[in-house]
Amino acid sequence: MDRFNDFCSRFEELLEHQPSLSNRIETGRKLLSELTAQMDWYTSFMERMLLDRQFRESQRPTLWPNEVTLHRSPSGSFVVLSYIWDAYLTDTIHDHGSWGIVGTLYGTILERKYKRKDDGKTEGYANLQETSFVSMRPGDTIYVLPLDEGIHRMENPAASPSISINLYGKSMRRGYTQFFYPDQNAVVRAYPPKAVREVLAVKALGTTGKPWAGDILKRFLNQGPPDPVRRECELALRKLEGKPTP
Ligand SMILES: [Fe+2]
Repeated sequence: MDRFNDFCSRFEELLEHQPSLSNRIETGRKLLSELTAQMDWYTSFMERMLLDRQFRESQRPTLWPNEVTLHRSPSGSFVVLSYIWDAYLTDTIHDHGSWGIVGTLYGTILERKYKRKDDGKTEGYANLQETSFVSMRPGDTIYVLPLDEGIHRMENPAASPSISINLYGKSMRRGYTQFFYPDQNAVVRAYPPKAVREVLAVKALGTTGKPWAGDILKRFLNQGPPDPVRRECELALRKLEGKPTP
C-alpha cells in the first residue's frame, strides 16, 4: 500500500510542477511502469473490494462494470482506476474525455489504437483506421490522448482474468463517452448509468413518428435535463419533425 501511496504522491507532484502534457505522460508512464511491475500493493485493494462494505459502497456506477476507483487526487487533477478484465473480455472501441496512461498489472492486455479518417462533422458517422497494436505484460504501459486523438480498444486475450491500472487526468468533457462501430462506420454516445435510461427513452421516442412522443419530449426538455441529455432530446425532436440533424 505504501508503494501505491508513494505513486500517488509522486504523481500529484509531477502534475503540479510539470505543465507539459508530453512530459507528464513520459514521466507518468515510468512511474506507472514501476508500480505495475509487481502487484503486492494491490492485495489490500482486493481485500477492500471483498471485505470492506464501505469501500464497496463508495464505488460509483460507471459505464464500465469492471471498474474500481483506487484513488481520487485531492486536487482533482487525476484519478487512479483499476479494471479487472474477465477471460476474453473486449471493450467497445471508445474515446476519452482526458489524457490517460494505462499499465498491465496482472496477466496480458492487448491494445489497439485507431484514428478517424472522417472529419467528425456528420452526426453518427465515423470512419476508423487501426494504427497500432500492442500486447502488454505487467510493467508495460500505453497512453491515450483526449477525444479523437485517443480512440482505442482493450482486450484480455486469456482464459483467466487480467488486471489493468489506469490513470486519467482532468476531463475536458462530461456526461458521455463515444463508442465506435467500424463495421457500420458509426459512432454513438454512450451514457453513464445515471443518465442512460432517460437517453434511451428519448432516442426511442424520436423514432416513433407519433405526435404524443413530441409532447413527452418537450415536457422533458422543460424540466431542464443536463446538457448532453438535452442535446439528445433536441435531436429526437428534430427526427420526429422530419428535420435533418444539424
Ligand atoms: Fe480506454
